[in-house]
Amino acid sequence: MFKLEAYNKLLVSASVAAVVAFSVVGCMEGGATPSSSDASVSLDIDGGVSYPVRGNKAGSYYVNPQTVDIKVNHGRIPNDAELARWDTDLQPPTELSPEGHGIPEGSGSVEDGEEIYEAQCVMCHGDFGSGGGGYPALSKGNAYDLQKTLTNNRWKDPEADGPTRVFGSYWPQATTLWWYIRDGMPHPFSDSLSVDETYALTAYILNINEIEIDGEEVDDEYVLDRAKFLKIKMPNVDGFEPNIAGANALPVVRTYFGKASNFGGQNLNQGAVRCMTDCQKPTAKTKYIQNGGIKDFIPPMNVTRDLPKKEAVAIDVKKVYTESCAMCHSAFLSPGSADWAGYTPKGIDKVYANGINGTEGGMPAKGGTDLSDADFKTMVDYLISGKVK
Ligand code: HEC
Ligand code: HEC
Repeated sequence: MFKLEAYNKLLVSASVAAVVAFSVVGCMEGGATPSSSDASVSLDIDGGVSYPVRGNKAGSYYVNPQTVDIKVNHGRIPNDAELARWDTDLQPPTELSPEGHGIPEGSGSVEDGEEIYEAQCVMCHGDFGSGGGGYPALSKGNAYDLQKTLTNNRWKDPEADGPTRVFGSYWPQATTLWWYIRDGMPHPFSDSLSVDETYALTAYILNINEIEIDGEEVDDEYVLDRAKFLKIKMPNVDGFEPNIAGANALPVVRTYFGKASNFGGQNLNQGAVRCMTDCQKPTAKTKYIQNGGIKDFIPPMNVTRDLPKKEAVAIDVKKVYTESCAMCHSAFLSPGSADWAGYTPKGIDKVYANGINGTEGGMPAKGGTDLSDADFKTMVDYLISGKVK
């Protein structure tokens, strides 16, 4: 009885504020995020949306279940002009194709590259490509010296310096660097660099790795262009197996991968029939690295696995009240009102809980807001006391 009365009083005040109420409800439901009351859709902890697909599986994209089982027309074959626009592939020069593939005309200097690096890359990759904070190092000095560390084996000698695996020492081809920068960097704004800027950044990164081109040092005055780029030989180009260079690349690769022991398989049952279960006797031995594990791993690894902390932003209590509570809480149960005496005797925790979960008497869960529990409690404190803390 009491509840019904309270609800009716609130309804009166709600109708006074009907205009506000409608506009608020309107934007709550009109947003792109599916309403959480729609049982077929769920929100991930990190804010992503999961849609059920079928058989208890979920995906990030909406699949209309009605179209899954019928024949779907999947478009058409792209024409040559369309394919050319999608083909951002870059391939290094080889014996068979000395011009490589996809390497455009253009040029850029180490000096310009350094300027762009300072403006757009240094915040993540560190001064002179030193890395840190979980972002990969782009250099650790002289690539030719670092390349020699790649054969260091911590498994055999835990005290040895680990291999220094940075672009300069490890990547076999400079085309990957060029492509990676143009198509992937700077991380949040990929595809924003011009061809000349990409040449300049490539030149700068070759410079800080002390890489030579055709016997010439890439010094501060160096200007890199396409012709010079084609002559780059990366320090570790011959350090990979199988060797994919040359006219025999394909048979070499096939032979290599035909033999499981070439890529880690031991004691394999390699009969005529392919083995699918228990093919290998367990032989792994584990050797732990003493004294706190690997600290000087390069590139530095970020071992923190926490999600980034959300900075707590204090809510504007009066603004939230006006936008989200006032349409119902202005005549009855208004801020500081004596009506609260009918609610608070059951204990503040129960009042919070009722507000958060909603009540049959008409209080929608959290007043229909998506406030955190803590912020919602702040709002309740305000409603009860009439004072902003
Ligand atoms: C917001 C941070 C950020 C910025 C800014 C940024 N990068 Fe990166 N960069 C990354 C991350 C993260 C990776 C590793 C990506 C991965 O492994 O998937 C990376 C990888 C790279 C790599 C490959 C390194 C390797 O050894 O694998 C290169 C080269 C590179 N970035 C160059 C650049 C250049 C040049 C710029 C400036 C135009 C730039 N980055 C700006 C975050 C950034
Ligand atoms: C759509 C109308 C409506 C909105 C919007 C609304 N409330 Fe309520 N609220 C009610 C009604 C109706 C009651 C009385 C419910 C009852 O007596 O069961 C109530 C009761 C409450 C109670 C007491 C719960 C209890 O049973 O102890 C709290 C706390 C509360 N509201 C907080 C808020 C806050 C904070 C906001 C804004 C963020 C808000 N409400 C927005 C309608 C609303």
